[in-house]
Amino acid sequence: MTACTAVPGPAPPSQPEGWRDEVSLATRPDLDPGTEVVEVSLEAKVVGVEAQPGVTTELWTYEGSLPGPILRGKKGGRLLVHFTNHLPEPTTIHWHGLRVPAAMDGTEAVQTPIAPGESFDYDLPLLDAGTYWYHPHVRSSAQVGYGLYGMLIVDDDTEPMHLGDELPLVFSDLGLDERGVVRPGDENGWFGDYFGREGNLLLINGRVRPKVKARAGLPQRWRLVNAARSRYLKLVAPGVEVVQIGSDGGLIEVPRPLDAVVLAPGERMEVVATAPMAGVGRIPVRWEDTDRFHIGTPQAALPLFDLEVGPEEFVQVEPLPERLRDVPELDLNQAVPRTIELTEMVEEGVGVLGINGVAGSHAEPFHAHVGTTEVWTVENRTGYDHPFHLHGFFFQPLMADRRPWPNREWKDTLHIPAHSRLDFAVTYDDRPGMWMFHCHILDHADLGMMAMLMVERPHQ
Ligand code: C2O
Ligand code: CU
Repeated sequence: MTACTAVPGPAPPSQPEGWRDEVSLATRPDLDPGTEVVEVSLEAKVVGVEAQPGVTTELWTYEGSLPGPILRGKKGGRLLVHFTNHLPEPTTIHWHGLRVPAAMDGTEAVQTPIAPGESFDYDLPLLDAGTYWYHPHVRSSAQVGYGLYGMLIVDDDTEPMHLGDELPLVFSDLGLDERGVVRPGDENGWFGDYFGREGNLLLINGRVRPKVKARAGLPQRWRLVNAARSRYLKLVAPGVEVVQIGSDGGLIEVPRPLDAVVLAPGERMEVVATAPMAGVGRIPVRWEDTDRFHIGTPQAALPLFDLEVGPEEFVQVEPLPERLRDVPELDLNQAVPRTIELTEMVEEGVGVLGINGVAGSHAEPFHAHVGTTEVWTVENRTGYDHPFHLHGFFFQPLMADRRPWPNREWKDTLHIPAHSRLDFAVTYDDRPGMWMFHCHILDHADLGMMAMLMVERPHQ
């Protein structure tokens, strides 16, 4: 509470007391407050976590919590992370979506993994406001599956208005056996990689079916990330008005009403959620199957969390602005085309996933130049859906399966349905180095659906 000398007016209407207590996430404290730099320490360690009520499970965590704490800074500032690895094996951290220098990207292409007991300082400029996340990039499917992920938020102090009361929501899943022990990251070998390992426990902010309270009419700004290593999220909140306001790289141009939020692994979305009527009580917000393998028999829906709408009187608020932000259109006049195919090959009798017919492990890097704008056509030649992720640079979707993209926005990860294509534009700003792109079903990346992009300064 801050001291206030003004005459107190009536308190503005607020969300119900303790509305987000059951899903609260810690924010890492700034070791150096009062400067442009947010400086935090972060430890990866194995601890016992009560993921299911009454059952303690040993997980790999950042700071002992599932998910890890929120890291938070301001656009135009910097985030300095003093990271220490107390895991039993080497790791790195990738700052998914942040436009960092290549050396800070956390892949094995740019750094030697941090050995157990060792530390590494990540120095991250915060160029763009938005909702991001962080996770390991060494044995990433296994390490993410064991619990290593957290949200990273970059605030913009000049944002037009208060868009809603903030609720960060990290979706993930966890594979546990009957005793509550986490299943091995390489369970079922090739088969597990090929289908993508999905945990049996669905979590929101590390909890099983928690409760969030809401006051009717009063918008909540949900910042959503899908941190599951392979599972898609289709989130349905029956009777709740849901309007998209942001995606991977901050606010989109025009608010967009949605029936459901669909997020492939790695994607983020910001939505404003408003309960339209007082006193309706508990609304189960559910996960639905997107049938990413096109099997035709979707799994049953599962409750994710409950939204409890209290009896307090409906609150009338200002509508959302018609325009949230200007996203400048990339100039495509000189754009260079690039075609990428997501492919499946049979090698020695088993299916191997790849890029342009080559599995990541034996691929030569692709090359591009700083300052160039490219139009990528990414064709999914397989019979299953894949979320495509480009490191280091945001792209503007142009067309999905040759149909114009409905909104101008910045993405770094995008779902590409089976047998369809995505066209997007990207400009390489002056951050040369080795970048990766891959399927964000992390098991598929391990199986070869990944490649390198070497971005170079043109020779003078
Ligand atoms: Cu979030 Cu290369 O990944
Ligand atoms: Cu994939």
